[in-house]
Amino acid sequence: MEKELKHEIIKPGGAIYTIYKYNKLDSTNAFLKQHCSTLPDFSAIWANEQTHGRGRFDRVWNSVPGQDLTFSLMLPLTSMEQKLRQNITQVAALSVAQLLEGYGLKPHVKWPNDVLIHVKKISGILCEVAESNENVYGILGIGFNVNSAGKSLSCIDIPATSLRCELRHTVERLELLKKLLDIIINCFNILRQSGFTHNRLEIKKRLAFINEQIIFTDVKRNSYSGRIIDLNDDGTLLFECEKRGIISLNSGEIALNNLYLKRGY
Ligand code: BTN
Repeated sequence: MEKELKHEIIKPGGAIYTIYKYNKLDSTNAFLKQHCSTLPDFSAIWANEQTHGRGRFDRVWNSVPGQDLTFSLMLPLTSMEQKLRQNITQVAALSVAQLLEGYGLKPHVKWPNDVLIHVKKISGILCEVAESNENVYGILGIGFNVNSAGKSLSCIDIPATSLRCELRHTVERLELLKKLLDIIINCFNILRQSGFTHNRLEIKKRLAFINEQIIFTDVKRNSYSGRIIDLNDDGTLLFECEKRGIISLNSGEIALNNLYLKRGY
């Protein structure tokens, strides 16, 4: 596998990470899972092109070679409190949202793993866990539509947009990746040192569809109609279900089909 670039970021008292850029990989998550035991913590594997990019629920993540960002970051989880692991995806979504706000945009977090602008998806997150020699690693994969536009936009499940479409100019990807890694590692350190409370409040402020009538689909593909009331302390969703009353949802996704129909997409 030919490495195109290795970029090491070391800051006094700040984030320390290494970016390894490859021209073509099957999936950065799959690659990082395979090599995590030989790489330093906070290694970021960036592929200019993925041939088998994956999303949640076995969906395919297609992105335009050389235009967007597809990367995976290795997070050290061995000594992190077990219950906090389920919050990593949301914390990463928050980080992408904060990055976008730096460009004057108003993103929302579609619980638990998508970032939307004007109800269109700009980024999707797939966090997996890998274990090797008694060490546990978080494999945080992020697909981010940066410079693709028009018909080529990565659209995994719902209508999509990109940073270029929103800003009306292209953005240099390495600089963007470095900014994003700074934010993610900072949020991750807050999570592992102080728990979910701080990040929870920040996510809640940006939560999409709160109090709106939606349909939620769980991992067994059961659908629940109702509305999101709150983000619970542990990161699960507090949901008022039409048929079952108030329940907590810990996995699944918000199904948007009827919402797009209503809004005329
Ligand atoms: C989703 O929307 O369901 C999550 C999409 C995650 C895609 C990223 S691209 C980088 C990393 N490598 C993969 O194969 N998937 C993730």
